[in-house]
Amino acid sequence: MSSEKEQTRIAMRDRLYNEYSWLQCAAMQAGLALLPRYSDDRSLMIIDYGCGQGANSLQPLNLVLESVPDGATVEILFEDTPFNDFSTLAKTLGRGIPYSSLAKRDVTVFLKMVPTGFYNPIIPQPKADLGISWTSMNYLESQPNVTLNPAATPADFLAAKHEAFAAAAQKDLIKFLKLRANEIRDGGYFVAAIGSQKPKSEVVPSNPGFKLLQSVLVQMVGKGSLTYGELTQFALFPSHERTPEELQEALQVPEIEALWAVESLESKLVVHPAWLEYQETIELAGTDEVKKKTALEVYARAVTLNLVSASGWFWLEVLKHHRGPSWNGGDAFLEELTELSIREWVESSDESKVEIWYIYLKLKRLSEETQK
Ligand SMILES: C[S@@+](CC[C@H](N)C(=O)[O-])C[C@H]1O[C@@H](n2cnc3c(N)ncnc32)[C@H](O)[C@@H]1O
Repeated sequence: MSSEKEQTRIAMRDRLYNEYSWLQCAAMQAGLALLPRYSDDRSLMIIDYGCGQGANSLQPLNLVLESVPDGATVEILFEDTPFNDFSTLAKTLGRGIPYSSLAKRDVTVFLKMVPTGFYNPIIPQPKADLGISWTSMNYLESQPNVTLNPAATPADFLAAKHEAFAAAAQKDLIKFLKLRANEIRDGGYFVAAIGSQKPKSEVVPSNPGFKLLQSVLVQMVGKGSLTYGELTQFALFPSHERTPEELQEALQVPEIEALWAVESLESKLVVHPAWLEYQETIELAGTDEVKKKTALEVYARAVTLNLVSASGWFWLEVLKHHRGPSWNGGDAFLEELTELSIREWVESSDESKVEIWYIYLKLKRLSEETQK
C-alpha cells in the first residue's frame, strides 16, 4: 500500500499559482458545460480533487451552487496533497464562495479541506454526488525510476519520457478511477479536464511554451548555475500527458467499465489566454515596432510565469535534494530562470502560439443494478 511519505511531493508554487494559472483557468472554463445542475437536490456533496489554491474552483462550484433549490445543504470537500498551500486555499474560498447571497436563498454551504493525495481514499463511503478535477490527473503517484537525456531534441525527449512513464500512468489512472468509484454514489458524476496529447487525427501538437525555458536551463548549466545532474533530474517532472487512446484503454478495462459509464470524452485544444491578448495588442499596434516588442514581452512573461508557478516547486525540490536542505537560493534561482527565459523569448522574436490539448471527461457512476 502506498503512503503519504512515498507520494511524490507535488505542490504548486505557493500563492503564485493562483495568480498566474491562466491556462489552467481557460482549461477549466472549457469544461463548464459538462457540469450537472441540481435543481431537485436538497442535499449535495461535491469533491474537488487536486484543487490547488482554489482560484480555478470558484467558477465551476458557484455554477453548481446556483442550481440548487432553496433549503438545500451543500458540502464541498477540497482535496489536495499535504504539501498544497491550504492557507491560500482557505483565503481564496473565504472570498470566493458566496455564503451571503446563498444564505439569502436559504442554502447552507459547508466547506472542508482534505490534505490527502488522491491516490488514497478520500471519504469512507460513496456519498458524493459529484467529483471534479481540473488539470490534476496528469500527475503521477510517484516518480518512475528512469533516466532520460535532457539534452535530446525536445521532440525526442518528450517521446522518450512519454514511453518511459506510460505504464505507471496507466496504473495510476486505473487506481484513481477505482478509488473515486468508492466515493461517488450510484448515478453520481465525475467531471475532469485532463492535460493530454493531441488525438491521432490532429496535426497540431500541444505547445506548453517550454522550449525557451529549456534552452535557458541548458545555458545555465554552461554558466555553472546548474549542474548537468540537476538538469537531468528536472527532466523527470512526475506528470504524464496521456493520449486519448491511453485514456480510452483505461476506461475499457473490464473493472472500470463495470463502474463507470462514459457520458462524454472529447479532446479540445486550449489556447493560452495571453496569446489571444497578444494577438489583439499587436493588431492595435499596427506598424509600431516598439509597442509590438512590448506586447511580445508581456506575452512571454505571462507564459513563463504560468510555467514557473506550476512547475518551479519541482525544480526547487531537485535543487534542495542536490544542494542540501539548508540551501535557500530557490527564489533567486526561479527569478533568474524567469528573466533569462523572457529575454531569450523577446530576443528570438518567438511568436509561437502556446496551447495545450485537454481531454474532457464526464463519467456516470453505474449502480449495482445497472451492472447486473
Ligand atoms: C496544475 S494544478 C491544478 C490546480 C487546480 N485544480 C486548477 O485547476 O488550477 C495541479 C494540482 O494537482 C494537485 N495534485 C497533484 N498530484 C496530486 C495527488 N496525488 N493528490 C492530490 N492532488 C494532487 C497538485 O498539488 C496541484 O494542486
